[in-house]
Amino acid sequence: MASEYKPHYAAHIAELQRRWEAALEEEGLQAALVHSGTPMYSFQDDYQYAFRPNPNFLAWLPLTQQSDSTLLIVPGERPHLVYFQPVDYWYLPPSDPESWWADQFDVEVVRNADGWRAALDNKLAGRSLAARDIAAIGDSPSLADVFRPERINPDGLVTRLHLARTRKTPYEVACIEEAAGLAAVAHCEAERAFREGESEFNIHQRYLSACEHSDAQLPYGNIVALNSHGAVLHYQGRERSVPAEIHSFLLDAGCTVNAYASDITRTYATGAGEFADLVQAMNTLELDLVGRVRAGLDYKELFLQSHLEIAAILKSFDIIRADAETAVESGLSSVFYPHGLGHFLGLQTHDVAGLIDNDGTAIPRPDGHPALRLTRVLEAGNTLTIEPGLYFIEPLLQAWRETNDPAVINWSKVEQLMPSGGIRIEDNVLVTDNGCDNLTRRAFAEV
Ligand code: GLY
Ligand code: MN
Ligand code: MN
Repeated sequence: MASEYKPHYAAHIAELQRRWEAALEEEGLQAALVHSGTPMYSFQDDYQYAFRPNPNFLAWLPLTQQSDSTLLIVPGERPHLVYFQPVDYWYLPPSDPESWWADQFDVEVVRNADGWRAALDNKLAGRSLAARDIAAIGDSPSLADVFRPERINPDGLVTRLHLARTRKTPYEVACIEEAAGLAAVAHCEAERAFREGESEFNIHQRYLSACEHSDAQLPYGNIVALNSHGAVLHYQGRERSVPAEIHSFLLDAGCTVNAYASDITRTYATGAGEFADLVQAMNTLELDLVGRVRAGLDYKELFLQSHLEIAAILKSFDIIRADAETAVESGLSSVFYPHGLGHFLGLQTHDVAGLIDNDGTAIPRPDGHPALRLTRVLEAGNTLTIEPGLYFIEPLLQAWRETNDPAVINWSKVEQLMPSGGIRIEDNVLVTDNGCDNLTRRAFAEV
């Protein structure tokens, strides 16, 4: 199935070392300390929120539950990992470092959550480097006790590190590819559950068990939407009961491998008919858009194209009565397609640096499109989603009716399609010099 990530790990670490050394030098910094994060507790309680480490730590280490650990990056030296491994009998402590990743680091095990401070002092003893002059990356409150405020997450360094993360290494691509493979297996199981007439809740459980993920391991909360729930873009409900009639199913769900995400959406119609035809048209459009992805493509241009093409689909199905250009200019296409075409994908589902160019300057979104998350010119090594959508969203339709010309919408057609909610088709792609590799379609083909 998916390619194996372990053989690429040493080269990944070497590449990160080069990138971080360059970023430190450009920012006039001598070293950086990355803190994995400190768990947060519910108010006046002794239970923690689900813990997610700092993504800048995860970029180096496949340690998705490792709190209160630090990585010290000093140019010319092996990275130094302070690994928090308490002696505990209330909770299971982290297991011993595993050689496939630990061999790339100097590893020092500490038993206390603030053990990294003494470890850092020891590491710096006898050098001209002082902790106060090192940049710290992370959100642990403990950083403020050691570092000067202007040294914690300095903008210049953070921007350089974010930009570096847009170009995935072969290790990262292999992780995302495997996450796409797992999600494809689980999507197929979820489709079976839908065809068997299961509830949203049960479909979700079948998804989890097929990919052997807990809820907390998912990159984002699964969107498991029957019927009109598909029109709620980030629908988070999980109805336990089965609707009396089932028209459609929209599933937006991914998996993680070493914290790298996949983010995949499929939409199904229960039977033949106009909604099924619309799903088919959107699928054709999505593949067509993916076919245009390559290094050098301006993503916001592709996004604007997708608006024109969705407007053309709306017109050809007699849902709107305006030509595509007018529909886009007037904002009518946004009533049916109110989100962006996609986003970078990586350690974060909506991965970083989608809205800046290579010198860190903001690239504005096109007017009237506040939800677009990616405005860059694409480069080889970018991983991103292509996810056009078409929905029947009551509040947006209502707002159009109240403030614009209602005659440009065929309301009886809208009423007929409304119970099916909406359509989104979402694939994950790797940009190459000559095109792109559609990781999602390949994963489905292999299931
Ligand atoms: N699943 C969230 C998104 O597609 O962006
Ligand atoms: Mn997405
Ligand atoms: Mn998605």
